[in-house]
Amino acid sequence: MTKALNSHLSAQKRCICLNFRQIRQAKTIQVVDNQRMNSVFTAEKDILGMREAGRLASEVIDHVAPHVQAGITTGQLDRICHEYMRDIQKTIPAPLNYQPPGYPPFPASICTSVNDVICHGIPGDKELKSGDVVNLDITVITPDGYYGDTSRMFMVGEVSVMAKRLTQITFECMWLGIAQVKPGASLGDIGHVIQTHAEKAGYSVVREYCGHGIGKVFHQDPQILHYGKPGTGEKLEAGMTFTIEPMINAGKRDIRTMPDQWTVKTKDRSLSAQWEHTLLVTASGVEVLTWSEGSNPPPDCVKGLSFRPTASV
Ligand code: MF3
Ligand code: CO
Ligand code: CO
Repeated sequence: MTKALNSHLSAQKRCICLNFRQIRQAKTIQVVDNQRMNSVFTAEKDILGMREAGRLASEVIDHVAPHVQAGITTGQLDRICHEYMRDIQKTIPAPLNYQPPGYPPFPASICTSVNDVICHGIPGDKELKSGDVVNLDITVITPDGYYGDTSRMFMVGEVSVMAKRLTQITFECMWLGIAQVKPGASLGDIGHVIQTHAEKAGYSVVREYCGHGIGKVFHQDPQILHYGKPGTGEKLEAGMTFTIEPMINAGKRDIRTMPDQWTVKTKDRSLSAQWEHTLLVTASGVEVLTWSEGSNPPPDCVKGLSFRPTASV
C-alpha cells in the first residue's frame, strides 16, 4: 500500500503534526511524474496482461499457503515465494529492492506482517507460533511488465476469537469495498462502506496507508482511501485498475514505524489485519484480477456479486 498524500492527511486534524520524515515520505512515495497518471486500460492486450499478473500473484499465495504453520520462519516463507516466482513463474518479486524516495530498499521478496504489524513487515528468522495471525502480501511483475498485488491473512494453529473476528471483519470490509466498484461510482463510496463496517465492529481504519492505482507501475494514482464519504472523490471509469487493501486495527488507528523504516505497527500494540485484491473496473461492475483457485470465496455480505471475467471483456 502507499503512503497517503498530505492533502488527505491534513484534512484530518489529528494528522497535521506529522514529523518531517513522514512529510517527506508522504510527498514522495507517489514517485516520479510519469507514474502519477491513472492507468485506464482499454486495449485487450493490457486487460489480458493485468489478468495474468493478478492470477500469478494469487498463485504465489496458493503455493506458499500449506507452509504457513507454527515453526516456520517468515524468512523461509519469503524464500519459498521467491523461488516459485523466479523458477516456476518467471515473474519478478516487485518488493525486492523496491525503494520509493525516502525509504531504504525493501530487503525481501514479500511482506510478512504478524499480529500487531499493520503492513510492510520484513521477513526474517522469527518463527511463527500457534496463535499468530499473519498477512502475506505478494506483488509480481510479469515478463510483459504488468503488476499484480494481493494479500491474505493466515491463522497459525489455534488463534483467539478476537483475532478470528478481526480477520473476518477485515475480509468483509475489503469485499464490501469491491462491491462498490463500477463505472460512475466514486472513490468515497468505497472508503465509506469500509469505514462504516470496521467502526460498527468497534475497530479502526489505518489512514496513513491506502490502496493505489496499479498497472505497468507498482504504485500510482489514484489513492484508494479506506475511509470517506459517499459521492465524494474521483469517479470510477471502465478500464481503471487499482487495489483495495484495508488495514483494520482492533484498537486505535495510530501507527508507529520501526527503525528499519519499513515495518509499520499499531501504536497501542493491538492486532491489525489486512486483505488485498487488484481490481479492474468493467463496463458492468468489477473484476477481481487477483483471483486463483486458492482464493477465499467472498463473504455472505456480498452474496450474488459478479466479479469474474464476463465474455465481453
Ligand atoms: N504490496 C504492498 C502494497 O500492497 C507494497 C509493499 S512495498 C514493499 O502496496 F516494498 F514493502 F514491498
Ligand atoms: Co497494494
Ligand atoms: Co500488496
